[in-house]
Amino acid sequence: MFERPEAGQKAVLVHLEFPGVDFESDRQEFIELARSAGAEVLAVIGGSRRHPDPGLFVGSGKADEIAEAVASTCAELVIFNHELSPSQERNLERLLKARVLGRAGLILDIFAARARSHEGKLQVELAQLQHLVTRLVRGWTHLERQRGGIGMRGPGESQLETDRRLIRDRIASLKRQLETVRQRRARSRAARDKREVPTISLVGYTNAGKSTLFNAMTGNQTFASSQLFATLDTTVRRLELPGGDPVVVADTVGFIRDLPHDLIAAFRATLEEARDATLLLHVVDAADPERATRIEQVRAVLEEIGAAEVPVLQVFNKIDLREDEIPHIEREEFGVAQRVFVSARTGDGVELLKDAVAERVRESVQRYELVVPPRAARLRSQLFERHAVIAESLDEEGRFHLSVSMPLRQLCRLCREAGVAEPIEARLPEEWERTP
Ligand code: GTP
Repeated sequence: MFERPEAGQKAVLVHLEFPGVDFESDRQEFIELARSAGAEVLAVIGGSRRHPDPGLFVGSGKADEIAEAVASTCAELVIFNHELSPSQERNLERLLKARVLGRAGLILDIFAARARSHEGKLQVELAQLQHLVTRLVRGWTHLERQRGGIGMRGPGESQLETDRRLIRDRIASLKRQLETVRQRRARSRAARDKREVPTISLVGYTNAGKSTLFNAMTGNQTFASSQLFATLDTTVRRLELPGGDPVVVADTVGFIRDLPHDLIAAFRATLEEARDATLLLHVVDAADPERATRIEQVRAVLEEIGAAEVPVLQVFNKIDLREDEIPHIEREEFGVAQRVFVSARTGDGVELLKDAVAERVRESVQRYELVVPPRAARLRSQLFERHAVIAESLDEEGRFHLSVSMPLRQLCRLCREAGVAEPIEARLPEEWERTP
């Protein structure tokens, strides 16, 4: 539909160093991402710059160097590990005579190729079109000329208008379809809430081993692969914990540093699973030398999607690759399980993990007593909506005394949001009083 050259597999990568960014590990991750998208990496061009050039992103000398690399390797695609503006992308394409992709475009491509479910496909297509629509401008005529030979006219204004309208129609249709899927998802989540089945969401940096662990825990086989981004959609399964309590386990999308905003928006429904979870299992690749940085990056994404308050149990996976680790549970000073060391591949430690999950879930379904003043009626209805209220009574001053069961942190968040944090007291059962 669009007059744009197809992306080829042969690619030249460009990764510049900017002050304050860890150059080497970024570079490695970038190469891996490009390979993951199916690119054959012919050359990686580095360099450093203080600020991006507004016109070309790189300086003119660097642009010539890239152009030379493209010509000598016959590359069809140039991928930048940076966010390019639509006009920079266009100027570069004109100069390099090859398709140019920024970091967001690259990640969108990977997600597009890996989307499995109907919902995931709709979400990615929407994100791609929204990304594309800002880039659909007349400047592309140069590419048309290039292919058609001198004198060949590019797509005129009217063709562009048609393309824009087609995209807008498609975007509207995708949004409608997604809304239906979203409502269905919300209904099934509400049904789970009603039956008080806690939800455990697996989150983690891409390639940490979430899908493998999901299978090891729930005993079923889904698609898991060594390429980045094996998972695109939440997969939801039921699991019986030691002690017989059922929980729902959801595998989520792989997180990545600087996840493009289009994508976060598109995956909102999927990521909401994580935000509303009883407990997050944050899966970490224990054999990755960059694991500390990755943990921080996942935390940043969690914050961005509003899941920062959900309790987290860290899972240090892939201990089979580390000689110094055996399966065990690490606890904080009050005995609460914080971190479990496992190998999803060999299954070592997976039973321990289930024990730790069972403990943490029991903890988060404890009861709390709340006093809600009349002016905070909204908080009361929110708690009812979440089916968190077990009992209530009204005192002579019109205050509600509620007995609620929900994760403490979520409860505190709702109280804070209600703007009545101070007069409301979440009283913990006695044995909880010493927990920070
Ligand atoms: P995304 O979907 O990209 O977010 O990845 P993921 O976190 O779901 O990772 P996945 O389960 O696809 O695993 C990534 C790679 O790590 C695969 O090659 C797995 O076989 C491998 N892997 C997972 N768990 C282990 C483990 O315990 N030990 C070893 N050695 N490899 C593992």
